[in-house]
This record gives sequence, structure tokens and C-alpha cells, in this order.
Amino acid sequence: MKRETPAKRSPANLAARIVARTNRERPADHELKETLHNLRDLAPGDARWISRAVFAYFRWREWLDAKRTLESRLDQAMGFADTYARTPDRFPDDDLIGGVVPEWVSTVMDVTKDWARTLQGEPKPWLRARPGKGAELLEKLGGLEVATPGVLPDSILYKGRDDLFRTAEFHAGEFEIQDAGSQAVGICCAPKPAQKWWDMCAGEGGKTLHLADLLKNKGLVFGTDRAAWRLEQLRTRALRAKLSNWQCVRWEEGQPAPGIGAFEGVLLDAPCSGLGTWGRNPHARWTALPTDVAELAVVQRRLLGIAAAAVKPGGRLVYAVCTLTRAETTELCDAFDKEHPEFAPDPVPDPFGVSPASARHFFWPRQTKGNGMFVAVWKRSKTVAPAAPTIAPLPAVEPASGAVPEAPAEPAAT
Ligand SMILES: C[S@@+](CC[C@H](N)C(=O)[O-])C[C@H]1O[C@@H](n2cnc3c(N)ncnc32)[C@H](O)[C@@H]1O
Repeated sequence: MKRETPAKRSPANLAARIVARTNRERPADHELKETLHNLRDLAPGDARWISRAVFAYFRWREWLDAKRTLESRLDQAMGFADTYARTPDRFPDDDLIGGVVPEWVSTVMDVTKDWARTLQGEPKPWLRARPGKGAELLEKLGGLEVATPGVLPDSILYKGRDDLFRTAEFHAGEFEIQDAGSQAVGICCAPKPAQKWWDMCAGEGGKTLHLADLLKNKGLVFGTDRAAWRLEQLRTRALRAKLSNWQCVRWEEGQPAPGIGAFEGVLLDAPCSGLGTWGRNPHARWTALPTDVAELAVVQRRLLGIAAAAVKPGGRLVYAVCTLTRAETTELCDAFDKEHPEFAPDPVPDPFGVSPASARHFFWPRQTKGNGMFVAVWKRSKTVAPAAPTIAPLPAVEPASGAVPEAPAEPAAT
């Protein structure tokens, strides 16, 4: 695409053009990234304003005056964002709950006042420092706040205004930008050094790198994904982090699994409807469809069956999704429990220290100060044999394009 001259267009006009171009196939975060990349000469303050305005527009969309121009609605949205940041109580719960997400959402999960409230705040980026290096990183970068001590080790909430991707520490591999909810998944996996793990939907490697770090650069994390371009990102990140206990290979359902009963641990960070990322990625609230939930639950169930077969007797199976719908969380796990007597729920501590140990955790955005996540953990018995399948094979369903959030908006967060 041709580079533009920023002087020709005001930030409000650029933001309006981005909003106007978005749709289910062209999510706002991608449109924004591409536009800002093509306008590299833009003043940092203007680029920040455009990002905030585009996300504020989709966050406050239902409150905006449809009679105004798009540029004027963007200004109005920024006004709501600033007022909400300063005085959230000016927006009563009942008012918020009616406008933050489409009505169909209440048929697939409980839309609570608390969730509605957290969805309207502007999320901050989380960093994951290399193991034990959080304090050092705090010294080097300004504007950081450590997470509650003792909870989520190495996690830091960034409150500064710098572009973290441009810092020397980022290029030296001293930290990853990774949402706290995603970090909690790695902690629930709790891999032990020298173990071999399969990260089945590794994507760009957020959790692969975390597992590799938790394995103390020993053992192996075998990352697979169907998207080759995502695995390229994983390779770049792993090299930057100077990790050597990983491999990655393109793999998708339908191909032979990399090992039957071969892994001490398998993580399925499954493609999902992404409702847990709607705080960071408000555009997705208005493009997701209720049919995504049911279709993705079918895919998740098939992938979980493949993941289960790859776990060694005595090994662990971890299922994670950045969504909060019943079909993709508890209902899916209940069905798995019935079909797989060789797996027993394996309670793990809540990394946020809020709930008692459990084999299933919902991490709500209130806790994570980021994305909502669901995690379930099982242990494979050394003695119980897998049950013969009693259900008819499930139909193949391809998730509709755009249903799987590519990269969470407002600094990457996987
Ligand atoms: C939630 S994302 C993974 C995020 C990643 N684990 C991380 O932490 O950065 C889900 C991934 O599943 C992959 N995927 C979707 N369907 C798949 C399939 N049938 N087989 C393999 N991978 C699939 C997508 O390409 C996507 O990268």
C-alpha cells in the first residue's frame, strides 16, 4: 500500500477512515496496525489518539449519537472513555449492561454487571519478564507496576506511555508482552524441567515460550499450529528470548498427531469465540455471531480428543480458551469427563489467589486486569484404559473466518 502524508489528514479523519473500513473480515486491530504502519511519520501522540479513539468508538458504540458524523462520534466516544476513566459511577450498572455487548450474548453466558463494567475500561498491557528478572526489568523501564506480590511471578502491568516494542529490553528478549490471563494458563500447566510438552495450538507462541521458560530451558515444548505464518512469529520470538528447548512444526487436525501417549503434558489453547478478549478488542463484540460459539465448541471437542490421546499415562492435559461461554467451557469439560474415564480432574491453585484450588478456573477480567480465560486440567490415570467411543463421529466444522481472534487488540496479549 502507498505510504500516506499524515499532514493531509487529521487524526480524527484517519480514525474515521479506519472505523469505516472495518468488518468481520477486517478487524479493527488489524486495520489500525496496517494504517499506523503505513503512516510511520505520524507524531506518537497522534498515533496514540487514533488507537484510543478507534477502540473507544467500538466500546461506546451504543451510546453514540447516530445523527452525528463519524468524526464527531469518535470525539463523543473519547469523551465517554475519559469520563468513565475518571468517574465510572456516572454510568449506572443497568445502563451499562444494556449496551456493552449484543443481546444474544446473554443466551450463551451470564452477562454480569461486573463483567459489563470491566469491559468498558481501557486495558493496560501486561509484560512477562524472564524468570526471576522482574525486579531488574522494573529498574530499567519506567512506568511499571508489579502485580500483587506472590501472585503471577514475573508479571508486570505497564502503565507508561512508551511503545514497548521499541525498547532495547524488548529487542534483547528480556520480556514478552503477554496478558495476565494467558500467563495464568502457563502457571496452571506447571511443567517440570526435563518434561516433554505438546502445545497443540501454539499460534505465535505466547504460551510455548512461557512453558519453555517454566521448563528452565530444559526438556522440550513441541509447538504446532495450522497457520504457518503464526509459527514464523513463534520462531522469531523464541530466538529473541534465546530459548533452545522448543521445536515447532505446522500441524492441523486430520494429520497424524506428533505422538500417541508420548507427552508428559499437552496444552490445548483452543480456537474459540474470544468473548474473554472483548475488553481489549471491542470491535469483536459487534462482529461475532452466536453460531460461532456452537461451531467452535464442535472443533474444540474434536481437538481435545486428539490432545487426550497424546498424553502419557500419569501425564497432564490442560484445556484453555479466552472465552467464557458455557458451551466452550463447562459443558465441553462435562462431556469430556463422561467420555474419558482415563482422565481425572487435577486441581491446581488459582494463580490469582482468589479462589481455592480447582481443576477448572474461570479467570474473569476483574482478576486478570486483562482478558477473561477459562482453564481445565486433568491427569491421565496410569491404570484406567480409554473408553471405546460411544458417540457418533462429530461433523467437520471449519471456524468461520474472523471468529478466531488473530491477535488481541490494544497491545498484543497472548
Ligand atoms: C487461541 S489461538 C492460540 C494462541 C497461542 N496459544 C498463544 O498463546 O499465543 C488458537 C490457534 O489455533 C489454531 N488452530 C485453529 N484451528 C486449528 C486446527 N484445526 N488445527 C490446528 N491449529 C488450529 C489457530 O491458527 C490459532 O493460532
